[in-house]
Amino acid sequence: MNISIRDASVADAKRLAEIYAYYVENTAVSFEYVPPSAEEFGHRIKGILEKYPYLVCERDGEIIGYAYASAYSAREAYCRTAAASVYVDRAHRREGAGTLLYAALEERLRSQGIVNLLAGVAYSVEEDEHLSHDSKNFHLAMGFEQAAHLKGIGIKFGKWYDLLWFQKRI
Ligand SMILES: CC(C)(COP(=O)(O)OP(=O)(O)OC[C@H]1O[C@@H](n2cnc3c(N)ncnc32)[C@H](O)[C@@H]1OP(=O)(O)O)[C@@H](O)C(=O)NCCC(=O)NCCS
Repeated sequence: MNISIRDASVADAKRLAEIYAYYVENTAVSFEYVPPSAEEFGHRIKGILEKYPYLVCERDGEIIGYAYASAYSAREAYCRTAAASVYVDRAHRREGAGTLLYAALEERLRSQGIVNLLAGVAYSVEEDEHLSHDSKNFHLAMGFEQAAHLKGIGIKFGKWYDLLWFQKRI
């Protein structure tokens, strides 16, 4: 097995949109309702790459996950803080891709002067068919601390979901 991390490009949009679409359509992990098209996904990648790292994880030549950073807020004083997102193909979870992606993302963010990394994690006290505690457990395993718990802030599949903010000094 050959697993590696590289920079994403707009040419990866179709595959990344495919990985993300599963989570949009079937889970409350993302608070989007409609999966973005490959074209729209390409625009998003291009926008992120203007200022932040966007990385993909390949296993034996196939993209199995991606992670990127974005601004937490556009206000100047937040310039040393970023928010992270990570999605791993559902068939390749728990193979270490998320760990590799976050390690590389943190390294890149550190080198551009980012000090705080945040992650917004959809949450429900009781796991249900649309939302597990995988992301919460993953962020704890990556050394993040829970910093905020916003209750009933998103509605999807007719149910109100919470959002946990995790924070890590990188
Ligand atoms: C959360 C997610 C990114 C984790 O990626 P992954 O590649 O499966 O994670 P890893 O294999 O690197 O796991 C690292 C550690 O995180 C923890 N972890 C990951 N998934 C877990 C799970 N389902 N249950 C409990 N702990 C888990 C474990 O400590 C794990 O280490 P271990 O396998 O040695 O026990 C992946 O499950 C995913 O894409 N989920 C859907 C999208 C999502 O929730 N993204 C985050 C929101 S921005």
